[in-house]
Amino acid sequence: MTSTTSTEGGSSKFLPVEPFDIIVFGGSGDLALRKLLPSLFHRWQDHQIPANSKIIGSARTKMTSEEYRQLVRDKFAEYNPDDEIDEDTWDAFVKHVHYVGLDSLDEKSEDWAEMKALLDNDEKLRIYYLALPPSIYGQVSRNVDANGLKTDKTRIVLEKPIGSDLESARAVNAAVGEVFDEESIFRIDHYLGKETVQNLLVLRFTNSLFEPVWNARHVDHVQITVAETVPAGDRAAYYDKAGALRDMVQNHLLQLLCLVAMEPPVDFEADSVRAEKIKVLKSLRKITGESARHNTVRGQYKEGSVKGKPQKGYAEEVGEPTDTETFTALKVHVDNWRWSDTPFYLRTGKCMSGRWSEIVIQFKSVEHLMLGPDSGRVQPTRLVIRLQPDEGVKLMLMTKDPGPGGMRLRYVPLNQSYAETFAPRYPDASERRLMAVVRNNLGLFMHRDEVEAAWSWIDTVLEAWAKDDMPANLYAAGTDGPVQASMLLDRDGREWFDGN
Ligand code: BG6
Repeated sequence: MTSTTSTEGGSSKFLPVEPFDIIVFGGSGDLALRKLLPSLFHRWQDHQIPANSKIIGSARTKMTSEEYRQLVRDKFAEYNPDDEIDEDTWDAFVKHVHYVGLDSLDEKSEDWAEMKALLDNDEKLRIYYLALPPSIYGQVSRNVDANGLKTDKTRIVLEKPIGSDLESARAVNAAVGEVFDEESIFRIDHYLGKETVQNLLVLRFTNSLFEPVWNARHVDHVQITVAETVPAGDRAAYYDKAGALRDMVQNHLLQLLCLVAMEPPVDFEADSVRAEKIKVLKSLRKITGESARHNTVRGQYKEGSVKGKPQKGYAEEVGEPTDTETFTALKVHVDNWRWSDTPFYLRTGKCMSGRWSEIVIQFKSVEHLMLGPDSGRVQPTRLVIRLQPDEGVKLMLMTKDPGPGGMRLRYVPLNQSYAETFAPRYPDASERRLMAVVRNNLGLFMHRDEVEAAWSWIDTVLEAWAKDDMPANLYAAGTDGPVQASMLLDRDGREWFDGN
């Protein structure tokens, strides 16, 4: 990737933002060094960060700002090997990067004074980014406040997971809520920052074609797949307590479902969009007791091979027998006027055959076919929204194969590919998220009520799984989940689309 040359004070094609100070707690951790600091650099490079902004990494480790800058640079090179850095741009950027060695869990630490000295301007927008375990969000918030570091213009950014069930999510939200107003809390679901996810609202609500047919009368069913090739790997300790339902469905897949299923909001303001999403979450039919057996599948990868590379089984990675699901598939109903009886099939898993995230809207077949023997080949219209990779939108249509020889039909795509249509580099999701906090765009973040409504539904599934003793079905790493996932659709006379 080629860098644009940029130094202090250049002009930007991006909307200007006000100057800000961002404090990254957990500043020497993986998330900060792999994602956040590189993202801030990219925004700097595009002249989007005003020159009087400060970026302050903070963690318990003691080091100087100079040492931190070097660490940031080394990690940048490691994680972005294709990025050619312009040295002048980098030098200008790191002048704004500082480090404070501080135990943010220690309210009485003398190091808060050093932080305070750096944050000398109470009028400036201040952002705390907690790249920390959620269990300490409350305590860190309290300590920030107790040390006089919360101003009227302070925002706080929280990573997922917010809790591991409704009760624990409420506890995290309440603890942070004691210090910060809901309007200052930015809970990340990184899927909401993806370009293609944001485009869902634009696709649905700015093109007159879709809205009239976006309902149970015309849509046969919806599939949402987030397939990954990566294993749980070195995250197994966290993952084993979570599993695919908590790790992926509670947040990313339910957010996607909401964006597909929601009613048109009155405008694109955060409150309006969030209100519609909450209605969808509240309309989800509960999966309880026996219905879990019919409507959900749990899977766990065993040894296999992913893209030609041998892969250990999940239990072997964890180091002991475990029943945590690394794959799940669900048949979900949204019980409201628009969607009654249109199933939404969700699936996600680790160590699958490929990496793809996709939403497929399968429309109903035409009511009358008049093409004689060729009628059998007619397939229903299908809208495929590819979230990643190869972002794009495809409308699969029946078309006459040109040329003589009668009415031969083919099912071909009307294809819009992001790579072909747009510039080769647009800000990635993490960059967009950071700038959305600066711009106060709460719409890309989750409201407390959304998080809790999602947990409330997920909890019923978890309870049903626990009560009904539904062990995870094994699937070979490198395949698309256990056979039960295919049967879930097969029973309804349908099949999963394979992402090609
Ligand atoms: C995270 C999950 O939220 O999303 C991970 O905790 C998962 O387990 C990741 O790998 C997937 O994100 P993406 O953007 O790569 O699809």
